[in-house]
Amino acid sequence: MKFSTKAIHAGQRPDPRTGAVNVPIYVTATYSQAVGQEGYEYSRTQNPTREALEESVAVLEGGDHGVAFSSGMGAITTVMTLLRSGDHVVVAEDVYGGTHRLFREVMEKYGLRFDFMDFSDMDAVEAAIRDNTRMVWAETPSNPLLKLVDLRALGKLGKNSDVLTVVDNTFATPYLQTAPEPRCRRRRPQHNQVPGRPQ
Ligand SMILES: Cc1ncc(COP(=O)(O)O)c(C=O)c1O
Repeated sequence: MKFSTKAIHAGQRPDPRTGAVNVPIYVTATYSQAVGQEGYEYSRTQNPTREALEESVAVLEGGDHGVAFSSGMGAITTVMTLLRSGDHVVVAEDVYGGTHRLFREVMEKYGLRFDFMDFSDMDAVEAAIRDNTRMVWAETPSNPLLKLVDLRALGKLGKNSDVLTVVDNTFATPYLQTAPEPRCRRRRPQHNQVPGRPQ
């Protein structure tokens, strides 16, 4: 399927009740349920409008799954909960100011450690990975300097080093920038479990 077709149709099936081709905006918080019924229960966990967005973005990005947040910092904070005290993260030096502050001024208080470096030098990034490194964190195009990171090389490095690879992107659409194969986000940690860490 062409990108333009996916952009219109992915995640957007006609509403079964009315045939509306645009997904209705469900503003409900809770859903009525019969005893023992599976399905929607509370909008923080499931909401049909949000699910349409998540599926659409996942298909456009070539991903397995999409998870939508109401803000970028909410998403970033959630990703950091995959880590534990004592874990180390290698971060691109030109990241969004809010990300830098969250890592240095908040997450360090929880025992996480960060090294900021120039991601145009993948050998240096690889050399910065230590025994307790659990994540590499890049931004491309970066905010504010619009620096680009070699996603293929980064994905390979993350996979070979058995660390989670995270890429934040505020500017590029998936029309021109997607995660290469093997996808950076292929490895999906279970709840409270980070790959590579002895349990
Ligand atoms: C790269 C990047 N990450 C995260 C954020 C934070 O996003 P939000 O303002 O939606 O929390 C921004 C905001 O500009 C950003 O540029």
